[in-house]
Amino acid sequence: VVAHVGPGGAGAARSRRNCAALDAASRFAETRNWFELPHGLLYLDGNSLGPPVRDALGAVTRLLTEQWRVGLARSWNDAGWWDKPIELGRLLAPLLGSASDEVVVCDSISVNLFKVLAAAARLVPGRRAIVVEADAFPSDRYVAASVAALLGLETRLVGPGHDRAALGPEPGLTLERALDGAGVVLLSHVDYRTARRHDLRGLTALVHAYGALAVWDLAHSVGAFPLALDDDSADFAVGCTYKYLNGGPGAPAFVYAARRHLEAVSQPISGWHGHARPFGFLPRYAPHPGVRRFLAGTPPLLAYAALEASLRLWQQVDLVELAAASRSLSELLAALLAEACPGLELVSPPDPAQRGSHLAYRHRRPRTLVEALAARAVVADARQPDLVRLALTPLYLRHVDVFDAAERIAQTVSQLG
Ligand SMILES: Cc1ncc(COP(=O)(O)O)c(C=O)c1O
Repeated sequence: VVAHVGPGGAGAARSRRNCAALDAASRFAETRNWFELPHGLLYLDGNSLGPPVRDALGAVTRLLTEQWRVGLARSWNDAGWWDKPIELGRLLAPLLGSASDEVVVCDSISVNLFKVLAAAARLVPGRRAIVVEADAFPSDRYVAASVAALLGLETRLVGPGHDRAALGPEPGLTLERALDGAGVVLLSHVDYRTARRHDLRGLTALVHAYGALAVWDLAHSVGAFPLALDDDSADFAVGCTYKYLNGGPGAPAFVYAARRHLEAVSQPISGWHGHARPFGFLPRYAPHPGVRRFLAGTPPLLAYAALEASLRLWQQVDLVELAAASRSLSELLAALLAEACPGLELVSPPDPAQRGSHLAYRHRRPRTLVEALAARAVVADARQPDLVRLALTPLYLRHVDVFDAAERIAQTVSQLG
């Protein structure tokens, strides 16, 4: 059972002592010890870069000193280097709600999006457009436009589009309008700015009803709450491992491809690691029968070592309990800030079920606020022009931390005026 604030219960937790009691009873009371975090730091930036797990350094060191220095090239087989992208995909699968043979860990989200969007578009010949949200992370928009241009397709922007420069003078289309004749729809499950969460199952069904394929960006979902990609009939997904999954700076991203597409799908970076017989050195490309076909070239094994150390711990995390704990922390923070700084506007959906694991607040000078908070040992981040993001990560953030952070945020906001 997770000790948490519960609906309407944030008031009860609003003393530091009550917060400490909730923490003592929490399912995640011990998981904080998994991590290396500077003493006294209130880290609310885990949706940007998660902290290292204690074994990350050891795992990288072992790779350097044992596998590389001693094993040398033999380690491609003896230490399982060749299969790391698939092996880590297996460790990631439960976090995605997917079968273990539908996920491969490789490259960055941007590179994977290029591969996946092109691959998906090739599955629906005759369709005219790739649809992407006007508010999507810029890389998603850029890559979608690039793939569309390469394949002679239109790019259609949907949604309100807070980024007017990206959208131009017209508001984005509604999804239904954009879907007419479209082949592929790229959607951000959780908005990187506001934390607004889409209904993955419902929107996938809508996309399918129009004969298109749904590609999901899970950067702000994976490791924040449970996912059910197979049950929800997603076609493809990409996401990173350096945020909630604590894989480290530059940790490899992942591709999910639904099994029903694997035989027919072909991605455009047809490198030898995705070949059916990489050591056949054959004149022509023949894709591996499985999800390995989404690989391109040699993976950065040092980065995989740190990620593996974290993913092994993630096997012990119950994602339903994690989401409940995140909700408790976010309700506490929202209640404390609403009371202490009523002028600070919450931009995230007020209903926790409709958001990811961070809260976004509007502030005129977000960078100044974030710098002033850093001086008080609270790490948050700013998204221009006017947002501050505060991530709630129950594996290493407690109610008392949220309580202390809220106090310092309120003081800083009032000082900045
Ligand atoms: C929602 C979202 N999509 C895509 C990206 C880009 O990821 P990458 O740098 O791995 O290409 C980010 C990076 O933070 C992101 O937040």
